[in-house]
Amino acid sequence: MLSKKALGINPSPTMAIDSKAKEMKSQGIDVIGFGAGEPDFDTPLHIREAAIKAINEGHTRYTPAAGTPELKEAITDKLKVENSLEYSPAQIVVSNGAKHALSNVFTALLNPGDEVMIPVPYWVTYPELVSLNDGVPVPLETSEDTQFKATLTDMEKAYTNKCKAFVMNSPCNPTGQIYNEEELKTIADFCCERNIYIISDEIYEHLIYGNHRQFSPAAFNEQVRNLTIVINGVSKSYAMTGWRIGYSASSPDIARVIASIQSHTASNPNSIAQKAAVAALRGPQECVEEMRIAFDERRRYMYDQIKNIPLLNALEPQGTFYMFISVAEAIGKSYRGQIIFGSDDFAAHLLESRKVAVVPGTGFGAPDYVRLSFATSMDNIVEGLKRIGAFAGDLE
Ligand SMILES: Cc1ncc(COP(=O)(O)O)c(C=O)c1O
Repeated sequence: MLSKKALGINPSPTMAIDSKAKEMKSQGIDVIGFGAGEPDFDTPLHIREAAIKAINEGHTRYTPAAGTPELKEAITDKLKVENSLEYSPAQIVVSNGAKHALSNVFTALLNPGDEVMIPVPYWVTYPELVSLNDGVPVPLETSEDTQFKATLTDMEKAYTNKCKAFVMNSPCNPTGQIYNEEELKTIADFCCERNIYIISDEIYEHLIYGNHRQFSPAAFNEQVRNLTIVINGVSKSYAMTGWRIGYSASSPDIARVIASIQSHTASNPNSIAQKAAVAALRGPQECVEEMRIAFDERRRYMYDQIKNIPLLNALEPQGTFYMFISVAEAIGKSYRGQIIFGSDDFAAHLLESRKVAVVPGTGFGAPDYVRLSFATSMDNIVEGLKRIGAFAGDLE
């Protein structure tokens, strides 16, 4: 029998829906995919060129396990300038993407039975990583009335004395919502009073719209900073999802443990991608803003259109490239005689009948919702929303 722990892990539903849409496309089916969790832009040219140069100059060997000094310095400079966070390079561990950085953090922090509070809806990977590391994911129920942002009352309800860490993801995948400074301070105070680590996943920090701002709890004061592990990376901001570079910034003793775990499980992150990440962080930043503007245009179009589709209710995204949409009014209706019992059915019938792929909210802990990514072309969005409108019109 295989490992019970491993057998308990569900494959990532977001990746599954994206692969299904890609597979249908490769069979010549005209499918519109709203599943993607990655920018549809190419990695900017100067970053690609830095990688080619790295290969030609022979940066093709093992690097220090926690990343090259050059990249770690570029990261500490970025954290200082953009986030007002003072870290030394020894506090940075560069990993194979933010996902790997998170995996290392849970391995470093958790003992069997330690609880980790995760606000619902959550990015599908958090609870699975906690379980894989013998921890207990504790879903922290939130409400749409507070845009799914955890409040003090929500936290008090979910807290037990076994709680070791709290996962903060702002801007949030899948809801697209951002915690303001006051909301974040309330959470930071709660965690400080109880000595709970804050894992702050800031991967979508550059994808922010309107007047919203992203805050890192680590910037509040030294006590919070010592309890916070900042997670970030270049995947989403620089259209570098395939390069696999992410990092953690934490107190020196945590960073030492993370580096040591990584030295045995992965050696180092890819040497060429590390050079490319230096170019991303140190090079011109206009590309980030250009992509953000394009996402914003699509976001506004999509939000306006969805308002006109019956049975769907979207939450206006403040950040990320995801729109979280309630399909509660569609649940209980039927499509050609088949009852829609939840978002899984909604997504399955939509894909089957109108060839549109959306991610059901079940994997995010929110079965009455679906997530649509607007990291796809405007043409796809226009056509996809037309089809979704037609599908909604077919429900009786
Ligand atoms: C909230 C969140 N954190 C982390 C990641 C992973 O990023 P990376 O590609 O750097 O592993 C994702 C990717 O979807 C994400 O949505």
